[in-house]
Amino acid sequence: MSTLDALRKDMLAVLQRPAETLYTQAHPQLSPLAWHVGHALQVERYWLCEQLMGEPEDAVARAIYFPEYTPKPARAAQLPDLPTLQASLHTQAAELRSAWQRAPARHGAISSGYLHAFVTQHYAQHLETVAMADYAQRVAADKALQCLQFDDASAPCDMEYAELPATEMELGRLQDCASAAPYDNELGVHCVQVPAQQIATHPVTVGQWLAFMADHGYQRPALWDAEGWAWREQHAVTAPYGWVRHGQQVLICPAWRDATRYTSPVCGISRHEALAYARWAGAELPHEHTWLAAKAAGLLQQTGQVWEWCSNALYTYPGFVAFPYQRYTLPWCDGQHWVLKGGSVLTRAPIRRDHFRNFYDAGQRHVFAGARLVRSG
Ligand code: AVJ
Ligand code: FE
Repeated sequence: MSTLDALRKDMLAVLQRPAETLYTQAHPQLSPLAWHVGHALQVERYWLCEQLMGEPEDAVARAIYFPEYTPKPARAAQLPDLPTLQASLHTQAAELRSAWQRAPARHGAISSGYLHAFVTQHYAQHLETVAMADYAQRVAADKALQCLQFDDASAPCDMEYAELPATEMELGRLQDCASAAPYDNELGVHCVQVPAQQIATHPVTVGQWLAFMADHGYQRPALWDAEGWAWREQHAVTAPYGWVRHGQQVLICPAWRDATRYTSPVCGISRHEALAYARWAGAELPHEHTWLAAKAAGLLQQTGQVWEWCSNALYTYPGFVAFPYQRYTLPWCDGQHWVLKGGSVLTRAPIRRDHFRNFYDAGQRHVFAGARLVRSG
Protein backbone atom coordinates (compact mmCIF):
# COMPACT_ATOMS: atom_id res chain seq x y z
CA MET A 1 0.00 0.00 0.00
CA SER A 2 1.37 3.44 -0.88
CA THR A 3 1.73 6.06 1.81
CA LEU A 4 -1.13 7.92 0.16
CA ASP A 5 -3.43 4.87 0.36
CA ALA A 6 -2.42 4.35 4.00
CA LEU A 7 -3.12 7.96 4.98
CA ARG A 8 -6.44 8.00 3.09
CA LYS A 9 -7.37 4.82 4.99
CA ASP A 10 -6.43 6.46 8.31
CA MET A 11 -8.55 9.44 7.36
CA LEU A 12 -11.57 7.26 6.49
CA ALA A 13 -11.12 5.37 9.76
CA VAL A 14 -11.97 8.62 11.55
CA LEU A 15 -15.58 8.01 10.44
CA GLN A 16 -15.72 4.87 12.62
CA ARG A 17 -15.76 6.99 15.75
CA PRO A 18 -18.88 7.77 17.75
CA ALA A 19 -21.09 10.19 15.81
CA GLU A 20 -21.12 12.74 18.62
CA THR A 21 -17.38 13.23 18.26
CA LEU A 22 -17.60 13.74 14.49
CA TYR A 23 -20.03 16.62 14.16
CA THR A 24 -18.96 18.90 16.98
CA GLN A 25 -16.13 21.41 17.15
CA ALA A 26 -13.70 20.27 19.81
CA HIS A 27 -12.10 23.72 19.74
CA PRO A 28 -13.26 27.00 18.16
CA GLN A 29 -10.28 26.93 15.78
CA LEU A 30 -10.97 23.38 14.61
CA SER A 31 -13.50 22.10 12.11
CA PRO A 32 -15.66 19.09 12.99
CA LEU A 33 -13.73 15.83 12.47
CA ALA A 34 -16.09 14.63 9.74
CA TRP A 35 -15.35 17.80 7.75
CA HIS A 36 -11.62 16.98 7.65
CA VAL A 37 -12.35 13.56 6.15
CA GLY A 38 -14.56 15.03 3.43
CA HIS A 39 -12.17 17.92 2.83
CA ALA A 40 -9.09 15.71 2.40
CA LEU A 41 -10.87 13.42 -0.07
CA GLN A 42 -12.40 16.35 -1.94
CA VAL A 43 -9.01 18.07 -2.32
CA GLU A 44 -7.57 14.84 -3.78
CA ARG A 45 -10.56 14.53 -6.13
CA TYR A 46 -10.32 18.18 -7.17
CA TRP A 47 -6.65 18.05 -8.19
CA LEU A 48 -6.55 14.56 -9.68
CA CYS A 49 -9.97 14.08 -11.24
CA GLU A 50 -11.13 17.64 -11.99
CA GLN A 51 -7.97 19.62 -12.66
CA LEU A 52 -5.72 16.94 -14.14
CA MET A 53 -8.13 14.49 -15.77
CA GLY A 54 -10.86 16.96 -16.76
CA GLU A 55 -13.74 15.23 -15.02
CA PRO A 56 -16.82 17.33 -14.17
CA GLU A 57 -16.58 19.40 -11.03
CA ASP A 58 -18.61 18.50 -7.97
CA ALA A 59 -20.16 21.83 -6.99
CA VAL A 60 -21.93 20.45 -3.93
CA ALA A 61 -18.78 18.92 -2.46
CA ARG A 62 -16.87 22.07 -3.27
CA ALA A 63 -19.36 24.24 -1.36
CA ILE A 64 -19.15 22.01 1.71
CA TYR A 65 -15.47 21.10 1.79
CA PHE A 66 -13.54 24.04 0.39
CA PRO A 67 -12.68 26.19 3.40
CA GLU A 68 -13.26 29.53 1.66
CA TYR A 69 -16.99 28.82 1.15
CA THR A 70 -18.02 28.11 4.74
CA PRO A 71 -16.60 29.44 8.02
CA LYS A 72 -15.67 26.83 10.64
CA PRO A 73 -18.70 27.27 12.93
CA ALA A 74 -21.11 26.72 9.99
CA ARG A 75 -19.46 23.53 8.72
CA ALA A 76 -21.14 20.94 10.94
CA ALA A 77 -24.66 21.91 9.85
CA GLN A 78 -23.79 21.39 6.16
CA LEU A 79 -22.43 17.88 6.50
CA PRO A 80 -24.53 14.89 5.38
CA ASP A 81 -25.65 12.50 8.12
CA LEU A 82 -23.16 9.81 9.11
CA PRO A 83 -24.47 6.80 7.11
CA THR A 84 -24.67 8.98 3.98
CA LEU A 85 -21.22 10.40 4.59
CA GLN A 86 -19.67 6.99 5.24
CA ALA A 87 -21.18 5.51 2.10
CA SER A 88 -20.27 8.41 -0.18
CA LEU A 89 -16.72 8.83 1.09
CA HIS A 90 -15.95 5.10 0.84
CA THR A 91 -17.23 5.17 -2.74
CA GLN A 92 -15.14 8.25 -3.43
CA ALA A 93 -12.03 6.59 -1.97
CA ALA A 94 -12.48 3.60 -4.29
CA GLU A 95 -12.89 5.98 -7.25
CA LEU A 96 -9.74 7.83 -6.25
CA ARG A 97 -7.70 4.64 -6.09
CA SER A 98 -8.80 3.73 -9.58
CA ALA A 99 -8.29 7.30 -10.86
CA TRP A 100 -4.59 7.08 -9.94
CA GLN A 101 -4.36 3.91 -12.09
CA ARG A 102 -5.89 5.74 -15.05
CA ALA A 103 -3.98 9.00 -14.60
CA PRO A 104 -1.96 9.96 -17.71
CA ALA A 105 1.55 8.76 -16.88
CA ARG A 106 3.15 11.26 -19.28
CA HIS A 107 1.58 14.30 -17.61
CA GLY A 108 4.37 16.17 -15.80
CA ALA A 109 2.46 16.33 -12.51
CA ILE A 110 2.17 12.53 -12.58
CA SER A 111 5.57 11.53 -13.98
CA SER A 112 7.41 13.82 -11.54
CA GLY A 113 5.45 12.39 -8.62
CA TYR A 114 4.42 15.94 -7.73
CA LEU A 115 0.66 15.50 -7.50
CA HIS A 116 0.92 12.25 -5.58
CA ALA A 117 3.31 13.82 -3.06
CA PHE A 118 1.24 16.99 -2.80
CA VAL A 119 -1.95 15.09 -1.98
CA THR A 120 -0.08 12.79 0.43
CA GLN A 121 1.22 15.78 2.37
CA HIS A 122 -2.23 17.31 2.47
CA TYR A 123 -3.57 14.16 4.16
CA ALA A 124 -0.62 14.26 6.55
CA GLN A 125 -1.40 17.86 7.54
CA HIS A 126 -5.07 17.18 8.13
CA LEU A 127 -4.32 14.01 10.10
CA GLU A 128 -2.27 16.14 12.47
CA THR A 129 -5.26 18.46 12.77
CA VAL A 130 -7.42 15.42 13.55
CA ALA A 131 -4.92 14.58 16.31
CA MET A 132 -5.33 18.15 17.62
CA ALA A 133 -9.09 17.68 17.71
CA ASP A 134 -8.66 14.35 19.54
CA TYR A 135 -6.45 16.06 22.05
CA ALA A 136 -8.86 19.00 22.44
CA GLN A 137 -11.65 16.51 23.18
CA ARG A 138 -9.52 14.77 25.81
CA VAL A 139 -8.64 18.14 27.36
CA ALA A 140 -12.29 19.17 27.46
CA ALA A 141 -13.22 15.84 29.09
CA ASP A 142 -10.37 16.09 31.64
CA LYS A 143 -9.26 12.60 30.64
CA ALA A 144 -6.19 10.74 31.93
CA LEU A 145 -4.80 13.59 33.98
CA GLN A 146 -1.34 13.32 35.47
CA CYS A 147 -0.28 15.28 38.49
CA LEU A 148 2.99 17.25 38.85
CA GLN A 149 4.24 19.53 41.64
CA PHE A 150 4.73 22.92 40.11
CA ASP A 151 7.40 24.05 42.51
CA ASP A 152 9.19 20.72 42.61
CA ALA A 153 12.83 21.60 43.30
CA SER A 154 13.93 18.32 41.74
CA ALA A 155 12.66 19.37 38.32
CA PRO A 156 15.75 19.90 36.16
CA CYS A 157 15.91 23.52 35.05
CA ASP A 158 19.28 24.24 33.49
CA MET A 159 19.21 25.35 29.90
CA GLU A 160 22.14 24.15 27.83
CA TYR A 161 23.25 26.32 24.91
CA ALA A 162 25.50 25.53 21.93
CA GLU A 163 27.57 28.09 20.02
CA LEU A 164 26.36 28.75 16.51
CA PRO A 165 29.05 30.61 14.55
CA ALA A 166 28.02 33.28 12.02
CA THR A 167 27.10 31.59 8.76
CA GLU A 168 25.87 32.36 5.32
CA MET A 169 23.27 29.90 4.15
CA GLU A 170 21.60 29.26 0.83
CA LEU A 171 17.86 28.70 1.10
CA GLY A 172 15.04 27.77 -1.23
CA ARG A 173 16.79 25.19 -3.41
CA LEU A 174 14.51 22.47 -4.70
CA GLN A 175 17.16 19.77 -4.09
CA ASP A 176 17.36 20.67 -0.39
CA CYS A 177 13.68 20.35 0.36
CA ALA A 178 13.77 16.55 0.63
CA SER A 179 10.38 16.18 -0.98
CA ALA A 180 8.94 15.51 -4.43
CA ALA A 181 6.50 18.31 -3.68
CA PRO A 182 7.94 21.07 -1.55
CA TYR A 183 5.37 23.78 -0.88
CA ASP A 184 5.62 27.04 -2.80
CA ASN A 185 6.81 28.85 0.35
CA GLU A 186 9.91 26.61 0.57
CA LEU A 187 11.24 27.68 -2.85
CA GLY A 188 13.14 30.70 -4.17
CA VAL A 189 16.93 30.46 -4.05
CA HIS A 190 18.58 33.17 -1.96
CA CYS A 191 21.36 33.65 0.57
CA VAL A 192 20.74 34.62 4.17
CA GLN A 193 23.18 35.71 6.87
CA VAL A 194 22.81 34.11 10.27
CA PRO A 195 24.64 36.02 13.03
CA ALA A 196 26.71 34.22 15.66
CA GLN A 197 24.56 33.30 18.64
CA GLN A 198 23.88 30.62 21.20
CA ILE A 199 21.02 28.22 20.67
CA ALA A 200 19.47 25.89 23.23
CA THR A 201 20.31 22.26 22.56
CA HIS A 202 16.79 21.24 23.70
CA PRO A 203 13.35 22.79 23.56
CA VAL A 204 12.04 24.29 26.81
CA THR A 205 11.02 21.34 29.00
CA VAL A 206 8.08 20.61 31.28
CA GLY A 207 10.38 21.01 34.30
CA GLN A 208 11.59 24.39 33.07
CA TRP A 209 8.04 25.52 32.42
CA LEU A 210 7.03 24.56 35.97
CA ALA A 211 9.86 26.80 37.25
CA PHE A 212 8.52 29.69 35.15
CA MET A 213 5.07 29.16 36.66
CA ALA A 214 6.47 28.88 40.19
CA ASP A 215 8.22 32.21 39.58
CA HIS A 216 4.82 33.76 38.73
CA GLY A 217 5.56 33.99 35.03
CA TYR A 218 1.86 34.18 34.21
CA GLN A 219 1.27 36.95 36.75
CA ARG A 220 4.00 39.41 35.74
CA PRO A 221 3.01 41.81 32.95
CA ALA A 222 6.64 42.94 32.59
CA LEU A 223 7.51 39.55 31.07
CA TRP A 224 4.92 39.91 28.33
CA ASP A 225 4.62 42.28 25.41
CA ALA A 226 1.43 44.38 25.30
CA GLU A 227 -0.34 42.12 22.83
CA GLY A 228 0.67 39.00 24.71
CA TRP A 229 -0.51 40.34 28.06
CA ALA A 230 -3.85 41.42 26.56
CA TRP A 231 -4.22 37.92 25.11
CA ARG A 232 -3.36 36.33 28.47
CA GLU A 233 -5.88 38.51 30.29
CA GLN A 234 -8.61 37.99 27.74
CA HIS A 235 -8.29 34.19 27.83
CA ALA A 236 -7.32 34.01 31.53
CA VAL A 237 -4.38 31.78 30.65
CA THR A 238 -2.35 30.58 33.67
CA ALA A 239 -0.73 27.43 32.27
CA PRO A 240 -0.15 25.65 28.94
CA TYR A 241 -3.09 24.13 27.08
CA GLY A 242 -4.21 20.94 28.81
CA TRP A 243 -2.68 21.98 32.16
CA VAL A 244 -4.78 23.00 35.16
CA ARG A 245 -3.38 24.58 38.31
CA HIS A 246 -4.52 23.08 41.53
CA GLY A 247 -2.79 24.57 44.58
CA GLN A 248 0.85 23.54 44.44
CA GLN A 249 0.10 21.00 41.77
CA VAL A 250 -0.71 20.99 38.12
CA LEU A 251 -2.91 18.41 36.50
CA ILE A 252 -1.83 17.71 32.96
CA CYS A 253 -3.69 15.97 30.18
CA PRO A 254 -0.72 14.62 28.18
CA ALA A 255 -0.74 15.17 24.43
CA TRP A 256 1.19 11.91 23.97
CA ARG A 257 2.72 9.23 26.16
CA ASP A 258 5.67 10.67 28.13
CA ALA A 259 4.57 14.27 27.44
CA THR A 260 4.54 14.95 31.19
CA ARG A 261 8.10 13.92 32.03
CA TYR A 262 10.10 16.82 33.44
CA THR A 263 12.56 16.43 30.55
CA SER A 264 9.93 16.29 27.80
CA PRO A 265 9.48 19.42 25.69
CA VAL A 266 6.62 21.55 26.98
CA CYS A 267 3.68 21.37 24.59
CA GLY A 268 0.58 23.52 24.31
CA ILE A 269 1.96 27.03 24.44
CA SER A 270 1.02 29.98 22.27
CA ARG A 271 3.70 32.19 20.78
CA HIS A 272 2.78 34.81 23.40
CA GLU A 273 3.66 32.35 26.16
CA ALA A 274 6.87 31.34 24.36
CA LEU A 275 7.92 35.00 24.22
CA ALA A 276 7.17 35.58 27.90
CA TYR A 277 9.20 32.53 28.85
CA ALA A 278 12.08 33.70 26.66
CA ARG A 279 12.10 37.13 28.32
CA TRP A 280 12.03 35.48 31.76
CA ALA A 281 15.01 33.34 30.76
CA GLY A 282 16.96 36.30 29.34
CA ALA A 283 16.67 34.88 25.85
CA GLU A 284 14.71 35.12 22.60
CA LEU A 285 13.07 32.89 20.04
CA PRO A 286 15.18 31.87 17.04
CA HIS A 287 14.60 33.18 13.55
CA GLU A 288 13.69 30.27 11.27
CA HIS A 289 17.04 30.81 9.47
CA THR A 290 18.83 30.32 12.79
CA TRP A 291 16.84 27.15 13.44
CA LEU A 292 17.79 25.75 10.02
CA ALA A 293 21.48 26.70 10.32
CA ALA A 294 21.69 25.12 13.78
CA LYS A 295 19.88 22.00 12.58
CA ALA A 296 22.26 21.70 9.63
CA ALA A 297 25.22 22.13 12.01
CA GLY A 298 23.95 19.24 14.16
CA LEU A 299 23.39 21.42 17.23
CA LEU A 300 19.74 20.63 17.88
CA GLN A 301 18.52 17.73 19.97
CA GLN A 302 14.93 16.65 20.62
CA THR A 303 13.61 18.07 17.35
CA GLY A 304 10.40 16.64 15.95
CA GLN A 305 8.59 16.39 19.29
CA VAL A 306 6.93 19.81 19.41
CA TRP A 307 6.61 22.48 16.74
CA GLU A 308 9.01 25.28 17.69
CA TRP A 309 7.76 28.86 17.52
CA CYS A 310 10.12 31.15 15.63
CA SER A 311 10.77 34.89 15.92
CA ASN A 312 9.69 35.68 12.36
CA ALA A 313 6.38 35.86 10.54
CA LEU A 314 5.72 33.77 7.44
CA TYR A 315 7.06 35.50 4.32
CA THR A 316 7.67 34.48 0.74
CA TYR A 317 11.21 33.87 -0.49
CA PRO A 318 12.50 36.11 -3.33
CA GLY A 319 11.18 34.92 -6.70
CA PHE A 320 8.15 33.30 -5.04
CA VAL A 321 5.62 31.75 -7.41
CA ALA A 322 2.32 30.62 -5.87
CA PHE A 323 1.44 26.99 -6.71
CA PRO A 324 -0.58 24.90 -7.03
CA TYR A 325 -3.01 27.59 -5.90
CA GLN A 326 -2.85 31.17 -4.60
CA ARG A 327 -4.26 30.47 -1.18
CA TYR A 328 -1.82 27.88 0.19
CA THR A 329 0.63 30.55 1.32
CA LEU A 330 -0.24 34.10 0.28
CA PRO A 331 -3.18 34.87 2.63
CA TRP A 332 -1.00 33.92 5.59
CA CYS A 333 1.86 36.29 4.78
CA ASP A 334 -0.04 39.00 6.62
CA GLY A 335 2.43 39.58 9.46
CA GLN A 336 0.04 37.76 11.79
CA HIS A 337 1.13 34.18 11.07
CA TRP A 338 4.38 33.00 12.62
CA VAL A 339 6.65 30.24 11.45
CA LEU A 340 7.01 27.00 13.42
CA LYS A 341 9.75 24.49 12.69
CA GLY A 342 10.57 20.89 13.40
CA GLY A 343 7.32 18.95 13.70
CA SER A 344 5.57 17.31 16.64
CA VAL A 345 5.19 13.75 17.88
CA LEU A 346 1.89 13.74 15.99
CA THR A 347 3.39 14.94 12.68
CA ARG A 348 3.25 12.33 9.91
CA ALA A 349 6.36 11.42 7.91
CA PRO A 350 5.43 13.16 4.61
CA ILE A 351 5.76 16.59 6.20
CA ARG A 352 8.65 15.79 8.55
CA ARG A 353 11.44 17.73 6.89
CA ASP A 354 13.66 20.58 8.01
CA HIS A 355 12.56 22.92 5.23
CA PHE A 356 8.83 22.53 5.91
CA ARG A 357 7.41 25.82 7.23
CA ASN A 358 4.36 25.56 9.43
CA PHE A 359 2.49 28.71 10.45
CA TYR A 360 -0.17 29.79 12.92
CA ASP A 361 -1.22 33.02 14.54
CA ALA A 362 0.36 33.89 17.88
CA GLY A 363 -2.62 32.93 20.05
CA GLN A 364 -2.97 29.27 18.98
CA ARG A 365 -1.96 26.72 21.59
CA HIS A 366 -3.77 23.54 20.56
CA VAL A 367 -1.20 22.90 17.79
CA PHE A 368 1.43 20.81 19.66
CA ALA A 369 3.82 23.74 19.85
CA GLY A 370 6.67 24.49 22.22
CA ALA A 371 9.76 26.69 22.10
CA ARG A 372 13.54 26.69 21.81
CA LEU A 373 15.59 29.67 22.94
CA VAL A 374 18.52 31.64 21.55
CA ARG A 375 20.84 34.19 23.16
CA SER A 376 22.99 36.68 21.33
CA GLY A 377 26.56 35.37 21.33
C1 AVJ B 1 -0.07 25.09 7.44
C2 AVJ B 1 -1.10 23.61 8.99
C3 AVJ B 1 -1.64 25.93 9.02
O1 AVJ B 1 -3.91 23.03 8.28
O2 AVJ B 1 -4.52 25.09 8.17
C4 AVJ B 1 -4.12 22.40 5.03
C5 AVJ B 1 -2.13 23.61 6.10
N1 AVJ B 1 -3.44 24.16 4.00
N2 AVJ B 1 -4.88 22.57 3.95
C6 AVJ B 1 -3.74 24.19 7.92
C7 AVJ B 1 -3.21 23.39 5.07
C8 AVJ B 1 -4.46 23.65 3.31
C9 AVJ B 1 -2.45 24.59 7.18
N3 AVJ B 1 -1.32 24.79 8.15
FE1 FE C 1 -6.63 21.51 3.55
